[in-house]
Amino acid sequence: MSIVIGIDLGTSGVKALAINEDGKILASAMETYPLFQPKAGYSEQDPADWWKGVVKVIRQITNNSGIDKKEIKAVSLSGQMHGSVFLDAKNEVIRFPLLWNDTRNHEQCRKITQIVGEERLLSMVGNPALEGFTAPKVLWLKDNEPANYSKLKTLLLPKDYINYKLTGRVCSEMSDAAGSLLLDVKNRKWAVKLAEEIGLNPEILPPVLESTDVVGEILPEVAQETGLPKSVRVIGGGADNACSAVGNGIVKESVILASLGTSGVVLAHTDQMHHDPQGRIHSFNHSVPNRWYLMGVTLSAGFSMSWLKNNIVEKDYDEINRQAAEVKPGSEGVMFLPYLAGERTPHRDPLARGVFFGLSGIHSQKHIMRSVFEGVAFALRDSLELIKNLNIKPGQIRITGGGAKSALWRQIMADVFGYPVHTMQSEEGPAFGAALIAATGAGIYKTLQDAVDQTVGLGDVTEPIKENVSRYNEIYPLFGPLYKALKEEYKKFYSVMG
Ligand code: XUL
Repeated sequence: MSIVIGIDLGTSGVKALAINEDGKILASAMETYPLFQPKAGYSEQDPADWWKGVVKVIRQITNNSGIDKKEIKAVSLSGQMHGSVFLDAKNEVIRFPLLWNDTRNHEQCRKITQIVGEERLLSMVGNPALEGFTAPKVLWLKDNEPANYSKLKTLLLPKDYINYKLTGRVCSEMSDAAGSLLLDVKNRKWAVKLAEEIGLNPEILPPVLESTDVVGEILPEVAQETGLPKSVRVIGGGADNACSAVGNGIVKESVILASLGTSGVVLAHTDQMHHDPQGRIHSFNHSVPNRWYLMGVTLSAGFSMSWLKNNIVEKDYDEINRQAAEVKPGSEGVMFLPYLAGERTPHRDPLARGVFFGLSGIHSQKHIMRSVFEGVAFALRDSLELIKNLNIKPGQIRITGGGAKSALWRQIMADVFGYPVHTMQSEEGPAFGAALIAATGAGIYKTLQDAVDQTVGLGDVTEPIKENVSRYNEIYPLFGPLYKALKEEYKKFYSVMG
């Protein structure tokens, strides 16, 4: 039986999975690497560490006695999005890439928006200029390190750099390119005119493939180093969010993913490209050819919960869940704004901060605890509402991530969303989606939809409770205005408090 390998090139480390044609996991491996944050807002990694990590995890898989190496047909990567790998004329890395969570380029975002205009930008690339995206990182290099910028010949995204190391071919891939702010997301080609307008040479943009296209065969020296057979093909792969969508079966319209990881995501597959006229939600190319997805990100979802646990109540998760369940929906008047690290969707506001609102003498720790579950659910409903506004009707909502293990949180999500939420049978994340892309690209499945039909299964369903849905429908309209009331105050606070 054929075997494929999916590799998730993340920010804390790299994870590889080997699966067979039934989607059965035969082996997995994980390696970590350092993240460099020399100053507030700076976040970099060394691509040499990524490469070492990738070689190690593949070697662990090929050395695994349960794997018949000869059967490995293809490898594909899921990648942390947006990072800027700057290559010179010899395809050597010029300096460490600025990662998705590096925000030093605020000024360059302002400049892009000023030159192009926000509305035109949305119509050209489907998204506004956010610090996380790649184009403002390249402009930062131009403005701040002209000597490095003068050497720049090719811009790659993190997993595309690994594809280059595996095959020797320099190319990008649609779902990842979508997060660069340099891709015409609607027409699936580089936005050459935009690059020129903002002062970037479009020649730095490599050819761009679809996720399931073949990048090439692995280089002979890579076969030797990793233990992979020489015939193994590398398939385009995808952005981590696109791969996570594939791995959770979000490959047709009306199936929506709500993920409660460190950050929280609501992601919807769309058959056509849509963009929010105010750019409040991301609009990216999917790994499914000719399809798109909308994605809202709340930066502190699981993070709000771990912060509550470690810094505020100092109780374990079981106890937090038990006590929070004693409190009625609405936390008897306490509301939490989960903006511990600013917020992306819908506010795009790095200065926003967490708030407990409505406290009085009747409240105790358990009200605070429940309000954190609810505040994150309200923040995710903001994203769901933006998706619904674009005429995507939620048919089925699937819930994943560490937070989805909590039955209470699943219930609150179902009640706040007003829809049943389904867990997944397996929680393997983007590496699993990358493996399905590898299998489809290698011809084992005809389409990603076939791959999903044969391998992805649902777990339990949590139905919304009618009275709770009505109660949350009364409370949720209070959530957005609280932020609006504070928007200007956050700015004043920042100027005094830093
Ligand atoms: C998406 C984003 C993150 C990174 C993390 O826009 O910034 O999800 O892809 O890996």
